[in-house]
Amino acid sequence: MVTTQEKPPRDRGFNLSDCGSDGESYGFETLALHAGAYPDPTTGAILTPIYQTTTYRQEAVGQDKGFTYSRSGNPTVSALERRLAALEGAEFCTCYGTGLAATTALCLALLRAGDRVVCSQAVYGGTVRLFREVLAPFGVQAEFVDTSDEKTLTNALREPTRFLFIETPANPTLKSDWRRAWRKKPEPCW
Ligand SMILES: Cc1ncc(COP(=O)(O)O)c(C=O)c1O
Repeated sequence: MVTTQEKPPRDRGFNLSDCGSDGESYGFETLALHAGAYPDPTTGAILTPIYQTTTYRQEAVGQDKGFTYSRSGNPTVSALERRLAALEGAEFCTCYGTGLAATTALCLALLRAGDRVVCSQAVYGGTVRLFREVLAPFGVQAEFVDTSDEKTLTNALREPTRFLFIETPANPTLKSDWRRAWRKKPEPCW
């Protein structure tokens, strides 16, 4: 999942020069191998170590090295997030333990009672249940439409649509309609 919130402090200022590269002209393969990783500050290990740890020592209250608890931030996961963000051309990325955890976090962060979501008909069943059974009782209305149909999509993307949710390729149909959906993105209301 890629978000547009402010970057966490530990990710500020990151660029490819941090991992021995010096610009933005690298291809997908190079970014896939190198982006977001730099030698481990403790040992110099080139490959990012797997930090199997939970809680991090703080010098004093509020004085940490960018990590306090692994559920919210872990050096290994941060390296993955930086790499995925570089591959997606995003400012930063947030990784979750499961796909539906990511979808749920997105919805809880952005949606309020009274909001409306337009969702592709071709989405994972768990996503449908999340909108229909979990979020609907909180006053969030999801409209499921054929997002590959431009007219349908245009009609659906009316105020107060908070966001458009599509999967491409979709599970399980492998339907791909992001180009059409993207062309019809609504005026931002976030
Ligand atoms: C498109 C999509 N979203 C969400 C999920 C749910 O992922 P998870 O089981 O990791 O929560 C899946 C699982 O197959 C999926 O295909």
